[in-house]
Amino acid sequence: MCGIVGAVAQRDIAEILVEGLRRLEYRGYDSAGLAVISNNQIARVRRVGKVSELQKALDEEPVDGSSGIAHTRWATHGEPTESNAHPHFSNERIAVVHNGIIENYENLRSELKSQGYVFASDTDTEVMAHLIERERQSSDSLLDAVLKATKLLEGAYGTVVMELDSPDKLVVARSGSPLVVGKGIGEMFIASDQLALLPVTRQFMFLEEGEVAEISRRSVKILAPSGEEVKREFEESSVQHDAGDKGQFRHFMMKEIFEQPSSISSTLEGRLANDSVIVESFGNKAPELLANAEAVQVVACGTSYHAAMVAKYWIESMVGIPCQVEIASEYRYRKTVAVPNSLFISISQSGETADTLAALRIAKEQGFMASLAICNVPGSSLVRESDMAFMTRAGAEIGVASTKAFTTQLTGLLMLATAMSQTRQTMTEAEIASIVEQLRQLPAEINEALTMDQLIEQVAEEFTEKDHCLFLGRGEQYPIAMEGALKLKEISYIHAEAYAAGELKHGPLALIDQDMPVVVVAPNNELIEKLKSNMEEVRARGGQLYVFADEACEISENSGIKLIHCSAKGSYIAPIIFTVPLQLLSYHVAVIRGTDVDQPRNLAKSVTVE
Ligand code: AGP
Repeated sequence: MCGIVGAVAQRDIAEILVEGLRRLEYRGYDSAGLAVISNNQIARVRRVGKVSELQKALDEEPVDGSSGIAHTRWATHGEPTESNAHPHFSNERIAVVHNGIIENYENLRSELKSQGYVFASDTDTEVMAHLIERERQSSDSLLDAVLKATKLLEGAYGTVVMELDSPDKLVVARSGSPLVVGKGIGEMFIASDQLALLPVTRQFMFLEEGEVAEISRRSVKILAPSGEEVKREFEESSVQHDAGDKGQFRHFMMKEIFEQPSSISSTLEGRLANDSVIVESFGNKAPELLANAEAVQVVACGTSYHAAMVAKYWIESMVGIPCQVEIASEYRYRKTVAVPNSLFISISQSGETADTLAALRIAKEQGFMASLAICNVPGSSLVRESDMAFMTRAGAEIGVASTKAFTTQLTGLLMLATAMSQTRQTMTEAEIASIVEQLRQLPAEINEALTMDQLIEQVAEEFTEKDHCLFLGRGEQYPIAMEGALKLKEISYIHAEAYAAGELKHGPLALIDQDMPVVVVAPNNELIEKLKSNMEEVRARGGQLYVFADEACEISENSGIKLIHCSAKGSYIAPIIFTVPLQLLSYHVAVIRGTDVDQPRNLAKSVTVE
């Protein structure tokens, strides 16, 4: 989704702004632009397409200036054209970049037009530029003008405003879209994600919901929605500086797939005792809350939703309490009922997904006993607004297709189910100890699964000409099949669907022919014989099966069956292990098809709008 970078410094900042945008490319966008104050005017360059196009334009016509704002736009209102790209201007003296959506922009636009403002774009953002310009005429400072203007806005925004008359200041406002301030030596930066600023600073301060701030080279003045001044310290970031580099890998996605053993080690670090999970890893109040929760409600979107679905199998079987799972965008717009004494869990890699955040806010009004966020981004809105947070510690995930974020979520959720079980003694000590041992083995087992890479690369060749694909699984492998299908469709653009294998004969079997590859996730568990029957149903109709199976399943390669051995030494961690070959499959299919693996078309990493 859109990305923001801004700077007030004493040096030329165009290069820093462009580098910042480059580091935000993973979020997904379709145009990019920047504006700097230069020679008593605001110079602007915008281009449709990648940041490299913007860079080319700047190489041809460089702009210099020590204050500036920059943006990558993911189109919502108005097509991805140069005139719709940010920054947007008003009267050549106000420039604005904006993430989010202004919902009442049509009314404001008509009002501003009637007052003589001329619109040069189809965007909702331009309304903000003119509104701030109008309010500026009756305000002592840009800060005042932005405060007044934001009171008239409905919707979501993270915005940075620059004005020609005060080149040493930027004014920023946050409501629904994250913003972080970075402090350098005698210079200050702003971005929608700290990753953008890691080359220039490690000192960060997040703005809270509803805050407006004035940023100058050496100070930040923050105002709460009440208008009161807020004091907040900068904190050192723990995000690694090289988080935005691909290293030896061709794509971030592959780097992140191969980082999974170390990411999962980080998830586990300091959270396991000898034979148990340290319950306090979920928060100081976790021992009491996890012991007393009578039900669990989980909400999430996309890949995080698939993690939630696996958690349902674990929580209900290991803890014996009901666990409801729902897509956040459905939950938020439905009349829902909170089961008394139930725990609300939100799962999100970014912690900024608009629907998940909205669902959490609704849940907080509904009387859940507590809210727990399972999240990868410290300081994100979800983490700050939840009662408890479990950080997955996957490290920055840049590829739009979620990989290590998913397997670390699953690791955290298995730990959660185990911790809940411990506090209520729903499993024996020996069973708990065995799960903890499986968790400990997880990094090594993922490493083992990664050795399938070359074999899967060869298998991937057989998918490249296909238009459709089915994924089958049973039990907790059904959500893994769903995740496999999501991965394949989002990066290779092959239409893929997942079914619980038992559902095949209720409709999708009609699709089976020699052109429909069917991928099956088959660990050796109590459902394997049922799954084998489902595979026979496919074979009997001429379908081609690609089966990721444990050797112990005794499935042999035969006509219509391509077998890829994948083993998990432990039934609880099997869903996490079997995720890996599906990630590798979709990656290689996408590479062979030549798609944009890390930034697939139309998608954004962090979906901060509805
Ligand atoms: C999956 O590969 C996608 N990136 C997407 O489905 C993602 O999981 C979803 O948008 C939710 O994001 P979140 O985890 O940051 O909330």
